[in-house]
Order: sequence, then C-alpha cells, then structure tokens
Amino acid sequence: MQDTGEWQALGAHREALDGVHLRDLFEGDRHRGERLVAETDGLLLDFSKNLLTDETVELLAALADRAGLGHRIEAMFGGEPVNTTENRPAWHVALRQPNPPPEVRAEFDHMAEFAAEVRNGHWHAVVNIGIGGSDLGPAVATAALGAYADTELDVRFLSNIDGAHFREVTQGLDPARTLFIVVSKTFTTTETLTNATTARAWVADAVGEDAASSHFAAVTASPNKAQDFGIDAESVFAMWDWVGGRYSLASAVGLSLMLAVGSDAFSEMLAGMHQIDEHFRTAPWVENLPALLGLIGIWNRNFWGWPTYAVLPYSQELALFPAYIQQLDMESSGKSVQADGTPVSTPTGPVVWGQPGTNGQHAFHQLLHQGTDIVPVDFIGFCRPNHSHIGHHDLLMANLFAQAEALAFGAPDAGEPHRSFPGNRPSTVLLGDQLTPHSLGQLVALYEHKVFTQATVWGINPFDQWGVELGKTLASGIAAELTGTAAPNPTRDSSTQSLINRFLAHR
Ligand code: F6P
Repeated sequence: MQDTGEWQALGAHREALDGVHLRDLFEGDRHRGERLVAETDGLLLDFSKNLLTDETVELLAALADRAGLGHRIEAMFGGEPVNTTENRPAWHVALRQPNPPPEVRAEFDHMAEFAAEVRNGHWHAVVNIGIGGSDLGPAVATAALGAYADTELDVRFLSNIDGAHFREVTQGLDPARTLFIVVSKTFTTTETLTNATTARAWVADAVGEDAASSHFAAVTASPNKAQDFGIDAESVFAMWDWVGGRYSLASAVGLSLMLAVGSDAFSEMLAGMHQIDEHFRTAPWVENLPALLGLIGIWNRNFWGWPTYAVLPYSQELALFPAYIQQLDMESSGKSVQADGTPVSTPTGPVVWGQPGTNGQHAFHQLLHQGTDIVPVDFIGFCRPNHSHIGHHDLLMANLFAQAEALAFGAPDAGEPHRSFPGNRPSTVLLGDQLTPHSLGQLVALYEHKVFTQATVWGINPFDQWGVELGKTLASGIAAELTGTAAPNPTRDSSTQSLINRFLAHR
C-alpha cells in the first residue's frame, strides 16, 4: 500500500502536521468538537481529539477505497473464504442476522431451550470451561450484563491451566448442583481438556461416575470429540469452522451468557451487533464508526508511528473489555506477512492494553500524561448507569471527560518542568446512552470491524493465528519430559534445558 498515491499523500500530509498542537486545532476551529464526530443508533464516536484534520479524514477514506474495503466487506458478508490461509469464510456476521442460515437458527433454538431448562432447574452454578475466544467473549459479556442477569445462577469462567484457577473458580460450589459447559472449537486445547477432566473427577467424586455426564454440556465444531469425552449428544452445541474463536460470542460460545441473562437479552445483543454490521456495510467511510476507528488506528500506527494503544472503559462492568479487545486485535493483527505470504512493508498490529477507569488513573496515567511515548487512548463511557448511585456516575464520567481534555490540551508550567503537562496526546471517546445487551453487541461488532478495516489496509489475514502453534508444540514435548514419558531432547538449548532441570530438581 505504501507505493500508492493515497498512502504517499497521507505521508506528506502527516509531515505537514509536524509542530501542530491539538490546542491550535481547537482554537482555530470552534466547531471541531461538534464536527469530527460520527453517530449511529445511540453510540457517539468523538474523534476530534486525535491529531488529524478534515483533510486527514478525506485522505484516509481515499485509502480505504484504494485498499478495496467495500469489496472486502462484501466478500466477508457474502461468506466468501476470506480466511485464505485456512481456506474458509469468516462469517460471524451471519450469526446475528435477523434471518440467519437455518443451521444457525436451529442452534439458537437449541440454546434457548437448554437455557430455559437450566435456568428453571436445580442448578445453582454454571462454570464455562474454555480459553481465548472460548472464554473471553462470554466472560466479558456476562460481567458487562450483570445488571441484566435475572436468575440466581452463579455463572463462572475457568480458563487457565493453572490449578489455582480451578481451585478459585470451584471454591464454595456444590458439585452436585454445578453444571460445566466445555467450550472448545477444536476440542483439542490442552488447557480446556485438562480443566474439563479435573472438573469431571470433581463432580464424579460427589455424585458418582454415572451421574457425572449429566453435569456437562459442550460447545464445539468437533462434536464427536465431545461425545468421546462422555458428553451426551443432546448437550453438545454446534459451532462451525467458519466462526473464528475470537469472533464467536454470537454463536453457542455465548451459551453461558444466555444462561445468565436469558435468550431475550441475548437476542438484543445480537440485534446490536447486526445494527453495527449494517452500518459498517452501508455508511460512507467518513460517517462509519468501525471504519473510522480502523482508519484512525492506521493513521496513528503507520503515519505517527505509535506502537501501542489503550482501551479504557469508564465502566466497571466492562473491566474485562480491554482483555477481550486485546485478543481480538492482537491475535488478528499481529502478522508480519500479507495474505499472499509476502512480507508486510509497514508495521501492523499495535500492542493493545488497558484497564477500567478510574483505577488506571492511579496506576499508569502518569505515563500517558508525561511519559516519553505517546499512547493513543480509546475512552468508553455511558450517559446512564445500570445502578442508582448517580453521584458515583457523575464523578466517573467527569473523570473520563477530564482525562481526554488533559491529554489533549495539557497545562504548561515553565517554572516547574515536573508539573508541566505537554498535552497533544490523542484520544477517541465512545459515548453510549447506557450499557445494555444492545449496546454491548454494538461495541463488540464495532471493534471486530475496526480490526477488519485495519487488516484490509495492511493486506493481512485477520482470521488466522498460526503464531500460537509453535509454543503449543514445544510445550507438549516438554510436558512429556516433565511427566517422564519422554527422554530429554539432546538438541535443546542450554537455557531451556537448565530451567527444566532446575524445575525437576526443586519441585
Ligand atoms: O490459542 C489460540 C486459540 O486457537 C484461539 O484462537 C482460540 O480462541 C483458543 O485458542 C481456544 O481454542 P479452542 O476453542 O479450539 O479451544
């Protein structure tokens, strides 16, 4: 892309902005903050505090056209095999269509029926066992929609292979009244199968081997493997190879969320996702929230050269959202070759990190305001809370607005340099009316399509994750040595071998 006129025009335009301060941009244009915004269905994106101008937005829109974003969107929505390295579609948008494909509708009905039974049954706890995309989506959504949970069910999430996580998650639970949902697209993931095996033994200890299988359901694209594990066929929910793990919340991977909030609220979340899907597909780039977020991401990453960005929800209910976006973005965008296998010629995915505000203000905002690196921030907040403590909410949101203001405009203090705030630090604000199933769905789809927009410009495949494979292969070889079923590898490097030896000697 950097050979194109569109890219080069952006490069020259960026250089022309050298020395320009956000203070100048706002002082020279009293309506900037009202104009550099986009809105759809109750969700406002204020991108005016980024280091850009109206011309930047036009040039970025031209870049999107040059990259063929419109065609790529139609290919993804049309179910074409856009995941080229795995030769399959990435068709998560089909999961949230009002009239989805029949197999999707059937699985939704299966989920809704199961959810109604479990929610009215004798269970007191549900534990979702999964990791990565089989954990983060339902975990973030269940926490986000805590105010919409309308049962006594205690829904928990077990992911880490660390036995401490099993101990923590099962603490205080009655195995006789605990249901486990094993979520694994492949049903081969070591963490998930290890935790599921331990969970089954824990249940069997209490209720006996025969009754234990009724405590398990599964969500997988490999139903035979789930049945081999001992899970009844009617408790196995399908997902399809055309749904990527980190794009799977709208599939049966969201079953634990549905158990917590019910099928109606789940449907509202799907409607929020679909609203953004249609917006992404139809709105002009300069009014298109996901495209704008992605194009600003390109601007910040490739033209300003900033290597990280922070996602800071001013919402305790969205405390896990940064971790969710971290997987979505970094597993999708952390690529060094393009879809055709040739090396990329520009930096790709930034490091994504974050925590909820206001906690982060007392931890890392020092660096955001006065550090030597610039970290663009996405602030996320809502006008109305899901609780009655209005005073808290006013203070929470006052802090969000103040942080974005302080980052942008700073406060010079020539006398005491350590008290000086340089400002000129970019941020974007996403302001929703209220965190609801609908708006949560909007946020999830918004970031999915942001990532897609960036990947389209970079020419990478955002739907594979081959970079996680080597570590898995090496770990299984080392695990065989640790358990004494394989001899040490004589060709292993001296550092890794010494560490293994020390572990074996000291455990
Ligand atoms: O480790 C990478 C990964 O494949 C993720 O992409 C995925 O979400 C996670 O592992 C879990 O995979 P599975 O659902 O197959 O257990």
